[in-house]
Amino acid sequence: MAGLIPQEFIDDLVARVDIVELIDELVHLKKAGREYKACCPFHDEKTPSFTVSADKQFYHCFGCGAHGTAIGFLMEYSHLDFVEAVEELASRVGMDIPRGGDTPRPRGPDSTPLYAMLEQARGYFRQQLAGHPAAPEARHYLERRELDAKILERFEIGYAPPGWNNLLRVLGKAPEAGQQLLDAGLITEGSRNEPYDRFRDRVIFPIRDRRGRVVGFGGRVLKDDTPKYLNSPETPVFHKGRELYGLYQALQIQGHWPRLVVVEGYTDVLALAARGIDYAVATLGTAVTEEHLKPLFRLADEVVFCFDGDRAGQKAAWRTVEVALPALRDGCQAAFVFLPEGEDPDSLIRRLGPEDFEQRVASASGLTEFLFSHLQEQVDLSSLDGRARLAGLARPLVEKIPPGALRQLVIKRLGSLTGLESAEIDEVVGRPSSPTRPSRPRISQSTDRQRPSLVRSAIQLLIHHPEVGATAAIPVDLDKLELAGTSLLLEILGLLAEKPSLSTAGILEHFRDRPEGRHLTQLATLAPPALSSEGLSQELQDILARLLRKLEEQRYRHLAQKCGNTALSEAEKEEYRRLCSAMPGGENPG
Ligand code: GTP
Ligand code: MN
Repeated sequence: MAGLIPQEFIDDLVARVDIVELIDELVHLKKAGREYKACCPFHDEKTPSFTVSADKQFYHCFGCGAHGTAIGFLMEYSHLDFVEAVEELASRVGMDIPRGGDTPRPRGPDSTPLYAMLEQARGYFRQQLAGHPAAPEARHYLERRELDAKILERFEIGYAPPGWNNLLRVLGKAPEAGQQLLDAGLITEGSRNEPYDRFRDRVIFPIRDRRGRVVGFGGRVLKDDTPKYLNSPETPVFHKGRELYGLYQALQIQGHWPRLVVVEGYTDVLALAARGIDYAVATLGTAVTEEHLKPLFRLADEVVFCFDGDRAGQKAAWRTVEVALPALRDGCQAAFVFLPEGEDPDSLIRRLGPEDFEQRVASASGLTEFLFSHLQEQVDLSSLDGRARLAGLARPLVEKIPPGALRQLVIKRLGSLTGLESAEIDEVVGRPSSPTRPSRPRISQSTDRQRPSLVRSAIQLLIHHPEVGATAAIPVDLDKLELAGTSLLLEILGLLAEKPSLSTAGILEHFRDRPEGRHLTQLATLAPPALSSEGLSQELQDILARLLRKLEEQRYRHLAQKCGNTALSEAEKEEYRRLCSAMPGGENPG
């Protein structure tokens, strides 16, 4: 996604936006020395440990470790994705986003005709439910399921009549229409290469994406035939792992919900809506994915997942926990409801009514609760060994949770269950940097574990004081130095030579989608080098000089070895002589 917005634009945007102004509107900031402080919006605290730096255009919480640029802040705070955060910031400062392609988020070839075709098919199916000679049976079926006309209309329920070439006959007249019907998954090519209707004699559930475009359909048989349900196949516009049935309809009622409920089936969504529960959505016969959850956690304060009460339901719930942890944001909760065996929300609400269902949802067990009860089943907490095992089992899960209040809560809970001090758990789990115990991001595989490597020192200096890099003299040939991190250092220097006004945040945005980005962002959270700006220039030049010296040593060793084996060329001899006299205690080769 990030690639579609030119980096130039991101540079300008980050330069134009003021992170202090942005955050101050959402979280009241107080000036404290060179920086600004507030109580952290990402975790609960009484004394402020959240700082914002105007120089660096960067925020960092010493309490929970949250940190980032203005773009990152909006992504975290307002639960936006990268493109949405960029859009929001751009509109604040009145900039228009230039895009690589014609459409905002190109999906390869133009999908507009597919959307149009799917929309026409939806209209056709809807008409057939009203007027096709075979439709009364479908209407009876829906009546038996207690779905009234209002629900059928709101969800645009339709009917695909019996027959093999209805859609081609009705919608396939234009020369390109046949291909479009195929591409949209509405007709399918059989073994005899005769395309035919995918949906025949089925009740049809149109699936709209969040923007309201019809992207696919589900179809249910009226009797006990198989398959009971048929969904559109994956197409350029339809991805089951992304869409949620009913989300568009729920968002039509309100854009943000205190609670959204995730159920399994189309008919569960409909039965709930028919009884006033308008906040249910269904996956499309697949397990919940992170792609489903990210928008859900943005659109609701709480997301409640409904599962069958049996073992399969427990397993599915656990899978959901693992998918949900990385997507969880502070201020949003996830919870789990297990239904009595043999029931689904549809059968349950019809039998016991909406109050009963709401009651179950309201008393759903929270994610943390479910997580720990599931883990505790696997260990014996009365033994020391069992408590250590619990910490071990919890570790990979806790690591998935983004820094913030929830993560802290889970660590605390783990502490009280295992009797380990929270510092010990931090050890096990690995904690973001804090002022007293800075973590050491591994930019270079330095063998010296105590002192940061030269390269890392230089990078850290540049991250905190990009202006120093803008005027640095970059030694030629330094790219030949074989030392971890050198190419990253040179890349940053090159970047600053080209764009001398980049801020810390500006540099970080260049590396957003790269593995180095995380390390660089970590470096930005460490204390800045305590030197004046001339001091810093000097420091950088010193480091570069020392790196150059390392390069000479490498060259020297290389030539010394080579000259033992083969003859050196004239140029190499010359270089070797020069290096020898430069080496401490180096004698002149004859
Ligand atoms: P009803 O019998 O209509 O109440 O179905 P249900 O909503 O209770 O469905 P069930 O629990 O059997 O399945 C839940 C969801 O799984 C459905 O909404 C479909 O998305 C999917 N599903 C169920 N059966 C099939 C099938 O045979 N094929 C496919 N592709 N998906 C299915
Ligand atoms: Mn059912």
